[in-house]
Amino acid sequence: MTTRRIRKSYGSLAIGFLAASCILSSFAQTPPASNRQLASPALNVRVEALLKKMTLDEKVGQLAQFAAGYATGPGASNLRYDDLVAKGQLGSMLNVVGAEATNHYQHIAMEKTRLHIPILFGQDVIHGHRTTFPIPLAIAASWDPEAAELVARYGATEARADGIPWVFSPMVDIARDPRWGRIIESAGEDTYLGSMMARAWVKGYQQDDLSKPDSVAVSVKHFAAYGAAVAGRDYNAVEMGEPTLRQVYLKPYQAAVEAGAATMMSSFNSINGVPASANPFILTEILRKEWGFNGFVVSDWGAVGELKNHSIGDGPTVARKSLEAGVDMDMEGNLFGTVIADQVRSGKIPESVVDEAVRRVLRVKFALGLFEHPYVEQGPVYEATPERRAAARKVAEETFVLLKNDPVEGVGALLPLTKKTAKVVLIGPMADNQKEMLGAWAVTGDPKFAVTLRTALSERLGDKLLYAPGCGLLAGEDENVLKKVNFNGAASATGSLPVPDDAKTIAEAVLTAESADVAILALGEPTDWFEGEAGSRAHLGFTGNQEKLLEAVVGTGKPVILVVLAGRPLELKWAAGHVPAILQAWSPGVEAGHAIADVLFGDVNPSGKLPASFPRAVGQEPLYYAQLPTGRPAHGDLSHMPHNSLEKFMSRYVDEENSALFPFGWGLSYTRFSYSKPTVSRAEAPVREVLASGGDPVFTVGADVTNTGSVAGTEVVQLYIRNTAASVEQPVRELKGFSRVTLAPGETKHVEFPLGFNELSFYNAESKESVEPTTYSVWVGGSSLATLETSLRVVE
Ligand code: BGC
Repeated sequence: MTTRRIRKSYGSLAIGFLAASCILSSFAQTPPASNRQLASPALNVRVEALLKKMTLDEKVGQLAQFAAGYATGPGASNLRYDDLVAKGQLGSMLNVVGAEATNHYQHIAMEKTRLHIPILFGQDVIHGHRTTFPIPLAIAASWDPEAAELVARYGATEARADGIPWVFSPMVDIARDPRWGRIIESAGEDTYLGSMMARAWVKGYQQDDLSKPDSVAVSVKHFAAYGAAVAGRDYNAVEMGEPTLRQVYLKPYQAAVEAGAATMMSSFNSINGVPASANPFILTEILRKEWGFNGFVVSDWGAVGELKNHSIGDGPTVARKSLEAGVDMDMEGNLFGTVIADQVRSGKIPESVVDEAVRRVLRVKFALGLFEHPYVEQGPVYEATPERRAAARKVAEETFVLLKNDPVEGVGALLPLTKKTAKVVLIGPMADNQKEMLGAWAVTGDPKFAVTLRTALSERLGDKLLYAPGCGLLAGEDENVLKKVNFNGAASATGSLPVPDDAKTIAEAVLTAESADVAILALGEPTDWFEGEAGSRAHLGFTGNQEKLLEAVVGTGKPVILVVLAGRPLELKWAAGHVPAILQAWSPGVEAGHAIADVLFGDVNPSGKLPASFPRAVGQEPLYYAQLPTGRPAHGDLSHMPHNSLEKFMSRYVDEENSALFPFGWGLSYTRFSYSKPTVSRAEAPVREVLASGGDPVFTVGADVTNTGSVAGTEVVQLYIRNTAASVEQPVRELKGFSRVTLAPGETKHVEFPLGFNELSFYNAESKESVEPTTYSVWVGGSSLATLETSLRVVE
């Protein structure tokens, strides 16, 4: 960790969890094995002894995984799983949830198979399991790795109680294009923030010991660079130079491996023409040889079979290529299960390749203690207990980003609301929709537990709260869009359809707004179909008629507060120009309404900062602050800054600004913070000292932060650098440190950030991580627009 962190209290359970996980901080430093437990000699003696007894078919069975319950991909299989398990042909299952279901299959594996090898049950536990927390993008907006760790802890305990010792999380793909629906599962656009979050998730899930009854093994996904899909279209190809691949995209996966990740998931995309699920450079050269990863790799859903569509061979060929490249388990496709054994028998694949994959899978099963404890006790299902709800509420409150809070003439700033406000009208399709509060990846979260904003506000305001739905989420959408979202009737089944007639409800909302003192609009996009996997969008506005509704209510002249419930940066240009107060609330989880109300009324001062840039227009995408410089404008081009060059031959849009509407790191508070000019502990250091420093600091940058307002608040202090003269050009700014600092009114704290090799290095033209003599500009401030600057030099 290079940030100074402020410890908070999440209650006794959380403190216990965090204290236990802190013991492990040196764990990641042990080369060459990334996970010390998987490298244990005693464990490996057991693995070898078992491997010797296995037939080829039993070995291949360990490399097969099927979904037996909830299905997310095309072609969910209807095979008789009991039979496959009994024959030893199924080493792992996904989407089998609960003690009864998992024990059912486990009894067959343990009692009917020759070698009694337990099944490894995996599940998408993404932001909580039974108790739904905010989506990962929101958690990244807290800039609080401890929040991620805590959410992982709750997810782990709840998953384990449901018989699941393996979670398909964290997703650490860098996402710089919000057209890509899976940005909701990510930590956003930034490598440093993403790496910090990646470590925290792994630590929270795995703790220091996979065999603990409340630890789960992670599957870090989607390896690799899945978030860089061309044009933001899901599953699309990825093309980029190796320095960017390593410096920007691979770092968070590497951080997760260093934190001890037990498994990885290979991605659907190709990278520079080679599919990731058959990519020896990524899966073996980098992951295993360079990083020392010693867990196993599972493919993404059907990704091995889909290699045929990538046109790299027929079934047997692609299965061989995938296995030899370093995929060990085939998720829901059964290509490994059907074609690998024959190829070994005919001499096409050496049996040693299969053995190695089986070893990796068995190591994880042993380390999890599954051979000793294959079953789960049928205990109470954790469903949003008061203590868990309290944790979900506290995390959610940290994730909201106050984008705007301009004073209104005669009223002042609309937020925070005061209890004196006479009449509030709540309007919009997100105001009272429990399901939409959970987000697109709440597989086992139950909407009936979710608190909506309408419920929470009426608890506070009683009769003073007026309500009007305003419009649906989808009315007004193009017919083809509606056809897609209602594919197989699925959207009707999930409540997204039927589409109501909005003209009448918008008129009603306008009338209601006219009788109130202030209007709160809760708008967004449907989580089903529009967000998450396969939720790519070419337009980034509110869906349906919501913008019309917003314009109509603003047209009443009543002051409007906009609460945006969406799992991606939407295009908010009209709103930003016409609405005085905007709160970005993401998909907040089970305690959505309470948490939003706490912030709207100022019981909690907002402290979130954007983990991804919000565009002015979708045509700017991919839009991110850490851009490479251009020759036009040439000098000191911070092209993420607002600027409107009038010269023609510049790197700019004629019809839009270059800058974000709300930039990375942005977020307001109900108080104000001021910064001193940053200082640096020494002006220069020799390159050899920096090269030798690893994670140790060579320079320390410091700044004073003062709360100059009248209420307490938490500021996320951010440090950015720019390498001004490298052999490979470097981004105009890169985040290299952050710290959440809580300050009473008038209070000042000194914040320090260490800088050493880890922060100052870059990938050179030979793709080696390196430091060269140069000058670094350094900024400290409250967003990526920070202007207070110092510099430091690395010399010969
Ligand atoms: C997704 C993965 C997920 C897997 C299992 C795939 O479609 O890409 O993120 O873990 O399904 O549900």
